[in-house]
Amino acid sequence: MDFFKRRALWCALLVTACGPGQETVRGRAHLYVQPAVPQDEEVTTEDTIIMSSDPNQAVVFDGNVIPSLSLAAEVDQSTLPAGWMQDIFAIHKIDANRTLVFGKSKQTWLLDETQGGVLSRLSLDLSPPEGERLYVLENQNFWLVGRNNLGFPSTLSQNPSQLTLVNIVPDLMKDPANPPRVLYAGPQRMILASEKRTNIVLLDGDRARVIALDFPKMRDGTPVPIASAGLMQDEEAFWFLAPEYLLLLRKAGEDRWRWVISSFRVDIAGVLREDPTDLAMLVSAEADGGFAYVGRTFELMAGKIFEQNPLKLSVDINADPALDPYFINTVQPLLKTYCTPCHVGAETFPSVKASAAAFAQSIANGSMPKNMALTREQIKTLTDYLNRVVAMP
Ligand code: HEC
Repeated sequence: MDFFKRRALWCALLVTACGPGQETVRGRAHLYVQPAVPQDEEVTTEDTIIMSSDPNQAVVFDGNVIPSLSLAAEVDQSTLPAGWMQDIFAIHKIDANRTLVFGKSKQTWLLDETQGGVLSRLSLDLSPPEGERLYVLENQNFWLVGRNNLGFPSTLSQNPSQLTLVNIVPDLMKDPANPPRVLYAGPQRMILASEKRTNIVLLDGDRARVIALDFPKMRDGTPVPIASAGLMQDEEAFWFLAPEYLLLLRKAGEDRWRWVISSFRVDIAGVLREDPTDLAMLVSAEADGGFAYVGRTFELMAGKIFEQNPLKLSVDINADPALDPYFINTVQPLLKTYCTPCHVGAETFPSVKASAAAFAQSIANGSMPKNMALTREQIKTLTDYLNRVVAMP
C-alpha cells in the first residue's frame, strides 16, 4: 500500500495594516508569503493519507435508477449588478440551505435559501500571491489554492495583524505540471481531482486529513470522467458526477471506501447535459435505495445559473465600489499598467475617486498616459468608468 509521507509545511503570511507611506495598497491589507520554513510551533498539523487498498473491489454497480435531475430555467439576474455574473467562477452547496458562489475578485456570495434569492457578500481583504486562487468562506475563513500546495488559515492565529497559513501538499499537487481541478470548496472540505484520482481534504481545526482514492474504472478500463462533486447529507459521504453516472462515495469501514454507481442524467432547460460541471447540489441516499435532493440545486453553465424553480437573485450589499468586480477585473489592471508606473497608487479606488474627473479628461484628450498609447477601446472603458465615478455621491 502506497502511503504518502506525512508532511506539514508552514509558511507565515503577514497581513500588514498599511501605513500612510504605502500608497499602492492604501486601505487594503496585503498578503505576503514567506518562503516555507519549518517551524517548531506547538501545533500538531499533519496530513494523513488514507487509501482504500483496492478501489475496484469497493465498487458496487447498483441497478438503482436515480431520478434524473432537471434544471428548468435560468435564474433571474435582472437585479444583479453589472459584471456580477462574469465574476463568478464556481458554485458549491455547503448544506441544506446554503450555497457559496465564488467570484474571481476575492469575494464570495452566500445564497441562503431561507432568505429567498438574496446573496450576501463574504469578502476578505487579502491579496493572494500571483497565480494562486482564493476561495473565500464564511467567518474570515478561506482556501488558498496554488499550483502545488493548498493553504488555509490556522485557527491558532492569535494576532489579528498576522495570519498563519497551514500549508499542505495533497498527493495530486505533487506534480506541478498537472495541477488538479478543484471540484468543491466549502468550510472544512475540499475536493480535488485529476483524471484518475480524487483527493478529499477534511479539516479538523489545524489538522488536515486527505482521502486519496482512484476513480472507479468503466468497463473499457478507463476511469469514469468526473465532471463535478459535492457533499452528501451524511458525514463522510460525497457525490461525484460523470456524464451518465452519479457516483456515491461512502465510508465502508476503517480506511475503506465504497463507490456506488448509478445511471444518472442531468438536463438543463430540457437539453441533456453532456458534461455536467459546476453542479451545486446536496443529496441524501438511504440504505434502502431511497434518494433525494436536499434543498435547491444550481448549475453554473456558460455564464448563467440554472435551477429548478427560477429564482430571482438579488445582491444585499451597500455596494462598495472598491470591491466592484468590474473595477477590480477590468479597470484596475489598465490603471496599474498605464498610470501607476508614474503615479504611485493611481490604481487604488480612493485615488480614482479623488481624481476621476482629471483622469478622465487627461485620458480623453490624449495627454495621458504619457509616452504610452491606449487603444480606442481602452480609452472608452476608462473614460466611461471614470465618468460614472464622477457621478457617484
Ligand atoms: C510615463 C509617465 C506617466 C504615465 C505613464 C502617466 N502619467 Fe500622468 N503625468 C505624468 C507627468 C510627468 C505629469 C505632470 C504633467 C506633465 O508633465 O504633463 C502627469 C500629470 C498627470 C495629470 C495632471 C493633469 C495633466 O493632464 O497634466 C493627470 C490627471 C494624470 N497625469 C493622469 C494620468 C493617468 C490617468 C494616467 C494613466 C492613464 C497617467 N497619468 C499616466 C507622467 C505620467
